[in-house]
Amino acid sequence: MKNYIQISNKIKKFNNIIEVSGDKSISIRCVLLASQAIGTSKIYNLLESEDVMNALKSIKKLGISYKKLKKYYEITGFGLSGFNTKKKIKIDAGNSGTFARLILGLLVNSNNQITLIGDNSLSKRDFSRVTKPLEMFGAEIKSHNTNLPVKIRGSNFLRPIEYSEKLGSAQCKSAVMLAALKAPGVTKIKAKKSRNHTELLFKSLKIPIKVKNKKNSDLIEIEGHSNFKSFKYIVPGDISSCSFFIVLTLLSENSKLKIRNVNTNNSRLGILKILNRMNANIITTNKRNYKGESISDLIIKSKKNLKSINCPKNLNSSAIDEFLILFLVAAKAKGISTFNDLGELNKKESPRLNIAISFLKKIGIRVLRKKNNIKIYGNPKLYLKGNFTMKNFRKDHRVFMMTCIAALAFGGRWKIYDRDSINSSFPKFLNIIKKLGAKIN
Ligand code: S3P
Repeated sequence: MKNYIQISNKIKKFNNIIEVSGDKSISIRCVLLASQAIGTSKIYNLLESEDVMNALKSIKKLGISYKKLKKYYEITGFGLSGFNTKKKIKIDAGNSGTFARLILGLLVNSNNQITLIGDNSLSKRDFSRVTKPLEMFGAEIKSHNTNLPVKIRGSNFLRPIEYSEKLGSAQCKSAVMLAALKAPGVTKIKAKKSRNHTELLFKSLKIPIKVKNKKNSDLIEIEGHSNFKSFKYIVPGDISSCSFFIVLTLLSENSKLKIRNVNTNNSRLGILKILNRMNANIITTNKRNYKGESISDLIIKSKKNLKSINCPKNLNSSAIDEFLILFLVAAKAKGISTFNDLGELNKKESPRLNIAISFLKKIGIRVLRKKNNIKIYGNPKLYLKGNFTMKNFRKDHRVFMMTCIAALAFGGRWKIYDRDSINSSFPKFLNIIKKLGAKIN
């Protein structure tokens, strides 16, 4: 199959109700925690994407069985020492930074050496951010200049640690939290604010955890060596996947969209907070609580008079995966938008800050950059004509989806490469786009 798509027309007005696939962060955490529980867990609405399938295949290599049934996945764990790794094995995280970092946390007590590998994009990403704290527990870790492959051999004499997480990275925080399960005694973490799905899952599984929320950080204490029972979990829709349709609706004419069953955890709501400050009026309804997670329906309408934003830095971590798509709104808004301190964006599946800047320039938007701060000069009349090609973006799924939305919202004749990139997080993306009426070849 050819690995590019062509979009030659803006999307026509639409009025639809959709649901997106299960949340990627929660899906991966459910797989990992089910692998450590005692008994058979049932996970409904698990995201069926490559990142999550790589997590399932990897725990299988570590001796944990799983089964796909009609409505859910069954995963059978044998407790915190239940990985069964007789010989040196290799596990492949594919494109998934989340799975790769979190599984290392669970391997701090493995009896044998495990080698972690990944695809080209993951092999370029920094692992020292997790290997450093994990070594403090007593695990023996070798990496290739802080990159993959990482070789980890666990220890039977782990000690709890005190750790300060300063990047605002939920992956680092969660890797340490998972390792804390394996160490006797209390691990203490001071973490700069980031998504808190791991904390909420620990609480719902009755794992001994205390969390104190401070203004800019959270203090987390976890008591290790407490086995927990298998569980049932229904994964809510992924707000990061929704963000593409939210922005498409805002930027299209006379359109309306309702998205059902979306995870509206406050630590993920940066996208809505930023868009509402830009005049978007997105409505959150039918809010309910599920095992500590908030779930809602979202209602979005097209908006003509979007305005620029001076984006407060304290929203960065709760919108970390949404900046690419938010920049499209800034491109069409009236005024100059500023976004600051976005260095972490260049540490993702691709150097997203650099890619976003060259993309915006490609579509005629003025952008000024100073270090990791950018100014985007919005053009409310933005309308594209002519041919555009998008390729060489390290197969970053979010760059691909952002480009599709730009093509459908701004016009132009587009050839967008690496269609299969969406398989890592959102294989149904193009089907939903087509359901809204987009013509894609
Ligand atoms: C994730 C955390 C974020 C995010 C990633 C998923 C998670 O990464 O970018 O897509 O599930 O914990 P960082 O924690 O490194 O910012």
